[in-house]
Amino acid sequence: MQYGHFDDDAREYVITRPDTPYPWINYLGCDDFYGIISNTSGGYCFYRDAKMLRLIRYRYNNVPADAGGRYFYLKDGDTVWTPTWKPMKSKLDRYECRHGMGYTKFSSAKNGLAYSQTSFIPLGDKCEIHKITLTNESKAEKNIDMFSFIEFCLWNAQDDMSNFQRNFSIGEVEVHGSCIYHKTEYRERRNHYAVWAVNTPVAGFDTDRQTFLGLYNGFDEPQAVLSGKAGNSIAAGWSPIGSHHIKAKLSAGESKSFVFVLGFCENPEDQKWEKPAAPGNAGIINKKPAKAMLEKYSTPEAADKALAALNDYWKNLLSKFTVDAEDKKMARMAGVWNQYQCMVTFLMSRSASYFESGIGRGMGFRDSNQDLLGFVHLVPERARARILDIAATQFPDGSAYHQYQPLTKRGNNEIGSGFNDDPLWLIFGVASYIKETGDYSILDEKVPFDNDDSIAETLFVHLQRSFNYTINNKGPHGLPLIGRADWNDCLNLNCFSSTPGESFQTTANFESGIAESVMIAAMFVFVGPDYAELCRRVKQNDEAARAEKAITEMVEAINKHAWDGEWFLRAYDAHGKKIGSKECEDGKIYIESNGFAVMAGIGLEDGRAAKAMDSVKEHLDTPYGIVILQPAYKDYHIELGEVTSYPPGYKENAGIFCHNNPWITIAETKLGRGNRAFETYTKICPPYREDDSDLRRMEPYVYAQMVAGKDAVRAGEAKNSWLTGTAAWTFVSISHYILGVRPSYDGLLVDPCIPSSMKGFKATRHFRGADYHITVDNSAGAEKGVKSVTVDGKPLDGNLLPVFGDGKAHDVVVTMG
Ligand code: GLC
Ligand code: GLC
Repeated sequence: MQYGHFDDDAREYVITRPDTPYPWINYLGCDDFYGIISNTSGGYCFYRDAKMLRLIRYRYNNVPADAGGRYFYLKDGDTVWTPTWKPMKSKLDRYECRHGMGYTKFSSAKNGLAYSQTSFIPLGDKCEIHKITLTNESKAEKNIDMFSFIEFCLWNAQDDMSNFQRNFSIGEVEVHGSCIYHKTEYRERRNHYAVWAVNTPVAGFDTDRQTFLGLYNGFDEPQAVLSGKAGNSIAAGWSPIGSHHIKAKLSAGESKSFVFVLGFCENPEDQKWEKPAAPGNAGIINKKPAKAMLEKYSTPEAADKALAALNDYWKNLLSKFTVDAEDKKMARMAGVWNQYQCMVTFLMSRSASYFESGIGRGMGFRDSNQDLLGFVHLVPERARARILDIAATQFPDGSAYHQYQPLTKRGNNEIGSGFNDDPLWLIFGVASYIKETGDYSILDEKVPFDNDDSIAETLFVHLQRSFNYTINNKGPHGLPLIGRADWNDCLNLNCFSSTPGESFQTTANFESGIAESVMIAAMFVFVGPDYAELCRRVKQNDEAARAEKAITEMVEAINKHAWDGEWFLRAYDAHGKKIGSKECEDGKIYIESNGFAVMAGIGLEDGRAAKAMDSVKEHLDTPYGIVILQPAYKDYHIELGEVTSYPPGYKENAGIFCHNNPWITIAETKLGRGNRAFETYTKICPPYREDDSDLRRMEPYVYAQMVAGKDAVRAGEAKNSWLTGTAAWTFVSISHYILGVRPSYDGLLVDPCIPSSMKGFKATRHFRGADYHITVDNSAGAEKGVKSVTVDGKPLDGNLLPVFGDGKAHDVVVTMG
């Protein structure tokens, strides 16, 4: 069944009952202050780094689910409720949650009182705004008590959840009128604090959790709210919270709005204090930045204006690529929600979601390069800056830190390097950026290795080192060594771990120096030509020729050692044994090497590419997408690592790892099989499963990393929504390859590969300073092939639209056949 519906005109997903099969969330913020908000107003916010600078406490894996967030309690006489349903799970007369582009709106009603809450982060500011409107829909006057509630995180989210012997003594706050300041650790090395304020006088407040809730009460029975009276408590240690008590008198039909702001404020070191600490006096913080911020959003009109600016920002972003087609599910995903998710993955990497706790992973080298793919057309300047950050964490030999920290931008020593696909992703990311923008100047940027300026080289040299890394690290079959893992983090062929808890990714008990990856080999053939092309464009023709020779050699090695008869092998293990072969008992066929080999064009001429895709269909396809491998591993294999640690059907052990399904989609378009390409696209595309939400469980408007495979207990159930490479890759597969609107070095290519039943579509694409209004006519019922193209009414030779760069709109008509 469905728990809501899309409102395509408003670009919102409307959730119509609060008890969704899992919390369905949205993201707020697009600069450097971010929030996660669920459909019951759960979640948290942070400044730049979800681990180090978190403002609201949030407990993962809590009972009941999704406890903690920005809560508002209402009391009307003896009736007490929470208008966003949680935490009291109040029975509401109406409930609706609209997740939109960077904002979430709630509206509900009970006891004749309507409630609306609009939550967002304004552009350019470090705060969440929650505009709340109460409307008396009854015929009599109402005297409402409203209580706000947030629980402060003591900044470092990891310590906050573990170091209680310290935490319970350090909490400090200040309260001035309607402003609650959270200043834990400000007395020592921090020069930032949080402010939680409302633009109206308060009847009382609380900052001590126990006073507000009662020691043995949950968020669903706060004693202050139930008694109708705040305790005016000042937290000293234990758990600081922020709660305002507001009394609102509403005559029949009357509405009142309130603006709550939760902000992050910083002071220069020498201006930290209004009054420094003295014995017995905690010190009064300098509130200048807080006052300036609150002043800006002190009226409902000011909040509305900030929301309108945010709406304009998104309207403009999403105008860069729009789709209009009969298939509304595809159109809304490709035109709106997929791009929205791409922005979120670009900003968050894999840090903070309802599955990523914000304290684990930094920015992945591989992940961030892929996230670029779906984002570069939206804000190319930010993609450019990101590329330079990523490249600065590369080592001089071309290898790279697998992750880096967003605050320091430094490589993460704990995880280190050794993921041998990483370097190649940099080439891919840079090539995508240049195809989008035509900005070759990025290649001349001086970029440090390992963040050390003294060994900086141009970005071009970084790419060269990336390319050479693969060439310099080959195994006995002339295929690339896998190192700790390739794209598949769980194919750990040198790990050999028998100790529980040991990290599969960083442990290497068996440095064989022979385990090889066919996926990296195919990837080398896929991205290598871009390196060669870039060489030619910067007039390094000898280098280009050297690169092309290396690619040819790799193709030969693949042909000789990586074709299994009906599909491509996956790898050779540390004993030189095949992985992903008909000779194997389990894991006979894998998706990754087949997808990449065909995307790279290997076997297109001699039928092996088509054969490999047919094998993928025959062995790996399911109603919910394509599983990563078959047969699932039944037992743990020490020589294969984490992939065999998962129960059959989950994650890398035969789950539908959605991230790699688009590789098959793209490979099918290479073969010109539009029907099959589209089928693989729709199977994992969430709106197509909207009415199957009880099984799928995740948000119908975003991709999940994984859907349980056919061997799993709950086949078809999704997990890990939002932060996944699936976002960028599905965007590439639908926009570049199915709809076929694809940036290339010298122009915008239109090369659709669509189902024969699709009669056509319209798309607009902003590209290098001009707008292309494209109409594709497929009355011929073709799957691929462009018969003719006109631009502004004139026929064009071929299907490469020129770079106009004239700030104008151009009409393009493409006839397939
Ligand atoms: C996760 C990682 C990604 C990896 C994939 C497959 O999504 O973020 O880097 O490629 O798993 O293991
Ligand atoms: C685990 C997961 C994989 C993820 C990796 C990140 O191995 O299975 O999906 O990429 O952790 O470190």
